[in-house]
Amino acid sequence: MKTEHAPTIRRIDYQPLAWTVQSVDLHFTLDAKATVVRNRMHCERRGAGPLVLMAEGLTRVSLTVDGVEVAETALRETDTGLEIDLGERDTALVEVVTQINPSANTELSGLYHSGGGLYTQCEAEGFRRITCFPDRPDVMARFTVTLEADMAAFPVLLSNGNLVDSGDLDGGRHFAIWEDPFPKPSYLFALVAGDLVVLERTEKTRSGREVLLQVWVEDGNLDRADHAMDSLVHSMRWDEKTFGLELDLDRYMIVAVSDFNMGAMENKGLNIFNAKFVLAKPDTATDVDYEHIESVVAHEYFHNWTGNRVTCQDWFQLTLKEGLTVFRDQQFSADMLAAAGGESARAVKRIEDVRMLRTAQFPEDAGPMAHPIRPDQYQAIDNFYTATVYEKGAEVIRMLHTLLGAEGFRNGMDLYFSYHDGQAVTCDDFVEAMSEANGVDLDQFMRWYSQRGTPRLLAEGRYDAAARQYTLTLTQQRPDGDEALHMPVALGLIGPKGADLPLTLAGETSAGATTRLIELKDTSTTLVFEGIDAEPVPSLLRGFSAPVILELTEDDRRLAFRMAHDSDPFNRWDAAQRFMVRVILAMTADAAKGVLPQVPDAFMTAFGALLHNEKLDPAYRAVALTLPAEAYLLEQMTPADPVALRRALIVLMRSIGERLGDSWLGLDARLSVAGEYRYHPTDAGRRALRNLGQRYLCAAGVAKGVERALARATGEGHMTDRFGALAALVHSPASAEAATALADFERRFAKDALVMDKWFAIQAGAWRWIDSAEPALARIEALMSHPAFSLSNPNKIYALFGAYFRANPAEFHRADGAGYRFWADRIRDLNKRNPQVASRMARVLENWRRLTPAQQALAREQIEALVGEKDLSPDVREVLEKALG
Ligand code: ARG
Ligand code: ZN
Repeated sequence: MKTEHAPTIRRIDYQPLAWTVQSVDLHFTLDAKATVVRNRMHCERRGAGPLVLMAEGLTRVSLTVDGVEVAETALRETDTGLEIDLGERDTALVEVVTQINPSANTELSGLYHSGGGLYTQCEAEGFRRITCFPDRPDVMARFTVTLEADMAAFPVLLSNGNLVDSGDLDGGRHFAIWEDPFPKPSYLFALVAGDLVVLERTEKTRSGREVLLQVWVEDGNLDRADHAMDSLVHSMRWDEKTFGLELDLDRYMIVAVSDFNMGAMENKGLNIFNAKFVLAKPDTATDVDYEHIESVVAHEYFHNWTGNRVTCQDWFQLTLKEGLTVFRDQQFSADMLAAAGGESARAVKRIEDVRMLRTAQFPEDAGPMAHPIRPDQYQAIDNFYTATVYEKGAEVIRMLHTLLGAEGFRNGMDLYFSYHDGQAVTCDDFVEAMSEANGVDLDQFMRWYSQRGTPRLLAEGRYDAAARQYTLTLTQQRPDGDEALHMPVALGLIGPKGADLPLTLAGETSAGATTRLIELKDTSTTLVFEGIDAEPVPSLLRGFSAPVILELTEDDRRLAFRMAHDSDPFNRWDAAQRFMVRVILAMTADAAKGVLPQVPDAFMTAFGALLHNEKLDPAYRAVALTLPAEAYLLEQMTPADPVALRRALIVLMRSIGERLGDSWLGLDARLSVAGEYRYHPTDAGRRALRNLGQRYLCAAGVAKGVERALARATGEGHMTDRFGALAALVHSPASAEAATALADFERRFAKDALVMDKWFAIQAGAWRWIDSAEPALARIEALMSHPAFSLSNPNKIYALFGAYFRANPAEFHRADGAGYRFWADRIRDLNKRNPQVASRMARVLENWRRLTPAQQALAREQIEALVGEKDLSPDVREVLEKALG
């Protein structure tokens, strides 16, 4: 059993187990309340010591070794399960029978009940909640699974691999036998039993094998499965073409389930998905939903090679599969977008990914939960499925790709698979394969795996007119005296007319490209560019070539210049973001002093110029004209003052809507997309810019904008338009129209859980535009008794509570501390139901020390009260103790 004070697990303590499992036969007698699991493990000795089995919350019915009941004296119960002394044997057939209650499993880890069906989630440590097993990723076994159940309640029976037999049994029961030909760790085990319908397609792999692809959904949702299926086929084709990796099974299944702790899970041949990353049709899903589905389907599919065929030695290596697989799904989405929408669409994808990194990962890396992409220790492994392991991990892989080039990277991947297919390995093994395939020394690069915190890169430029030289000094600033990193920096110099200059470094004979890739290895690097006729404007870290904070002093004029001329689309966007940050922080400082914030004209001019630049794709303009996320802005303020920030943002949004009102209205008309909805980056970009304009127009209360938004929010269009309009109204002073639109939305979608999640989230995230308006918290408390709300469904928790805690900082951090009291009550309640979800919600206050002293005191009171409680799960305890620590 897990104890209350979980011990700290350390990476350096890794030891292989004395026993491994060669193959395992599982037999499930399925029942919602009493499932019996018979587990036969063919074990093999690898070293000295007992057989170690993990077990959590299991009722053990019997335990035998080679057919003989295990003597008390050979058995030792431990904190994590049991140990069996197997004497002098080198092989053993161990059979254990356990009973579990899936209906009582509110943690949604292990085997659980949802919507009448039975589903599993085993990563990271859920399998030990199903049966006793050496539940570690370095134990790879061949699985055969027999499922037996009532035919009426559970007509569909699925598990990993290939269906080898099925049939009827007496008493209205039936069975199915599944065999997975590939050895796998237990975290990749899955089963599904329920009343589901299927969309299927057969495809040929590149080598000509026929494969059956299936998407399983609840009855009534078949018309929402096509996009997931298309995404799966596109993913297959991309991995064949880009990495020469083919699907290795005859059958590949995706199953959508309503209750799921995270996004999705890559179980071998049987991916289980949160329904929100599968189901889409135009009137229920937005463009953004379509995009997410495509990338999550791809992510799980790509894991089949990066994660499943080659897996992790231990959970500290998680980024080995997650960072790499996120990188792969990002590249896939970028290629898909570029194929349909051109290179500008690729740039937009890169911008979105970096925006996400800065919003979610940078604050994590600057707070009490900061850890290297390969952590050195943990208490609850489920707390380490983080933005750092995933998104920063993907940036580290991207740097390898940048340093080695696409071909070099591919060669490294090929070598990695040739060495490690079928093995459980480490991040070192991956980087070594990259190094060997390219004949490049990556020892210094490995520091990215062990240093935490976002590095800073200080840049200073000096122009010498007489010498026609531009000198650039780049200095790495690391916390805690860390050593210098191996860091690729792509850069260019922009001439006074706005064109990139060909770059000649001192000592070179002819001019090179306009964007150069510099490999920093030292703490400080000085570059001298020659033949420069006038002072240039540097454009550094193009494409965000390294996950660092670039510190470069630029005045407003330079930022406006780069907003207009930087040839690197990422940096052009970044210039706009930097200008926005500067303006918003100054306005916030005024708001905090009680002074009415003013928007500088220079900013408005630069902003307007981007808006009016018809040479730029609408999708690009939409990201470039979107204000930075509040979480990112708060990160740059000391102290962080969410209430003052919100006041500044309201003034800014209003001004943008007022001063550019005619432009936004004109665009709104011009950008309308004719014909039926299709998910396509060009159309999606037009809709995104239009929806953004609507936000500004409604914020300013422009009558015509509000009128159009109300018509769209309540009309007969698709969800992208409807939800865009609803969001614009809710985030505006037009409270009567917002109320009308919310009521209309509720009437239409009351029975549609996924769509209602949007309805809950938009209200929880609502800004208060007039001081007299209802505080978000009052609305949320009322919505908790809405018939569509449920405390046992993670999506509902994320929609109603998560959106409040994360997307509504000004309301959550209200001055009277009511937001924090509400938070503590939610954590208390969720901690009992579902520690993983509770811990995710607990993390929203981890950076409380950045708040104003008054807010700190209020937050501390609640955190301390929680930590003092007895029944905290290890997950929640770890987060809160670190927050106070
Ligand atoms: N491997 C899954 C994915 O990224 C996520 C599993 C998350 N598990 C957890 N306990 N948080 O595709
Ligand atoms: Zn993953």
